[in-house]
Amino acid sequence: MIPVLVVVVAAQLVPARRTNPPTKGALAAPPEVEAALSRACYDCHSNATRWPWYSHIAPASWLMVHDVNLGRKELNFSQWGSYYPATRKRKLEWMGRVLRRENMPPWYYRVLHPGATLTDAERARLEQWIDSAPITTASDQPSGK
Ligand code: HEC
Repeated sequence: MIPVLVVVVAAQLVPARRTNPPTKGALAAPPEVEAALSRACYDCHSNATRWPWYSHIAPASWLMVHDVNLGRKELNFSQWGSYYPATRKRKLEWMGRVLRRENMPPWYYRVLHPGATLTDAERARLEQWIDSAPITTASDQPSGK
């Protein structure tokens, strides 16, 4: 058991960079849509990640930082306003696809956060919003991607 303990302790010395960068152009959606996205998606797809206690312990910390960085790169609701309209449209299509396939949030996240699973009604409301979501708004200031 000693070698295992040594590895576990040594692993804690390899830091994981948990970041919550400032929000630029957060998504503005109807409150119930924002509530569902915030509960089920924002931990990995926004800059408002709620880092649980085990996100401070390696190797969980490495896996979570990796997931969050990748998730934010694919789709970040905290910088929705900075996406070009065509990008926004594409990301909305992706969202529709993952909701229909029920593969987001990832299964391991649903195991750890049973409350994050979307109900059928919430999924239907999100799909409805995706179909009607405005792609451009007056306050748009696209800055990339
Ligand atoms: C535990 C973290 C996590 C949560 C929570 C999460 N995602 Fe993801 N998501 C990821 C990661 C990591 C990727 C990139 C790798 C991949 O595609 O699997 C991703 C990719 C995506 C993509 C783009 C790729 C594709 O398959 O089209 C979409 C769209 C997406 N997520 C939507 C959502 C939505 C909507 C929710 C909430 C209902 C959500 N995600 C919740 C981690 C997460």
